[in-house]
Amino acid sequence: MDTMRPVIIAANWKMNTTPADAGELARTIAGRTREPDVLRVICPPSVCLAAVRDAVTGEGIGVGAQNLHHELAGAYTGEVSAPMLAGLVTWVILGHSERRRDAGETDALIGRKLGRAVEAGFRPILCVGELLDDRESGRATDVVRIQLAGALDGHDPATLRAAGLVIAYEPVWAIGTGRTASGADAGAMADAIRAALRDAGWGSAADDVPVLYGGSATSANIAEFLAEPGIDGALVGGASLKPDEMAGMVGRAAITAAARRAAGA
Ligand code: PGA
Repeated sequence: MDTMRPVIIAANWKMNTTPADAGELARTIAGRTREPDVLRVICPPSVCLAAVRDAVTGEGIGVGAQNLHHELAGAYTGEVSAPMLAGLVTWVILGHSERRRDAGETDALIGRKLGRAVEAGFRPILCVGELLDDRESGRATDVVRIQLAGALDGHDPATLRAAGLVIAYEPVWAIGTGRTASGADAGAMADAIRAALRDAGWGSAADDVPVLYGGSATSANIAEFLAEPGIDGALVGGASLKPDEMAGMVGRAAITAAARRAAGA
């Protein structure tokens, strides 16, 4: 049932911080967000991973990459592969809309990356979400279903479930814009995502997949998303670089986690 899913606040630092300052920021955030019932994840730039990993040792915070390559090694200038990330991360973001936009990532390519992540034992956060035009023309759900089907094609549901697959619903028009989806729209999309998984052969395991909201999430609006029973937390960009914001969001997430625990007990 819904209450058994974890509550997750995942920080996507994008192309911000340096190896010189990332550890300090991670330490500050760790110290201000100690809520044992909330799964906290920090995804810094790849060159900051070691600093963040070292800074949060013993804090119960997951460290994640923002991407990985679909091949294990070879002539791929500038890329980072799963074996390179071993020992640095336990999570990885895949298919972020900025990579779809800037690096031309397709659903099929994201699906290959998903395979690499699972092989490496990393917990994947698969990002999906529609453009503004898709939303305004009533195609948002179709677009997300196509993205999901493309990335998950050929993957065994049981394997992905065992890998702890998380889906982040991030409407592209809400990312970094200060605009957000409504809680109700995000909740409806979470339901559509789980329905698509059920249709794809997941059966009732679809109900165990955490779905996060992403797109201008802040401490001021997180409650609207966490009030949705189908939403299990947030993937946060801009606000995740601010310790006060992280403290507010994780604090609010702890209330949801406690309510779920009470309902499930
Ligand atoms: P934002 O980014 O919170 O800055 O909108 C979210 C994301 O891209 O994951």
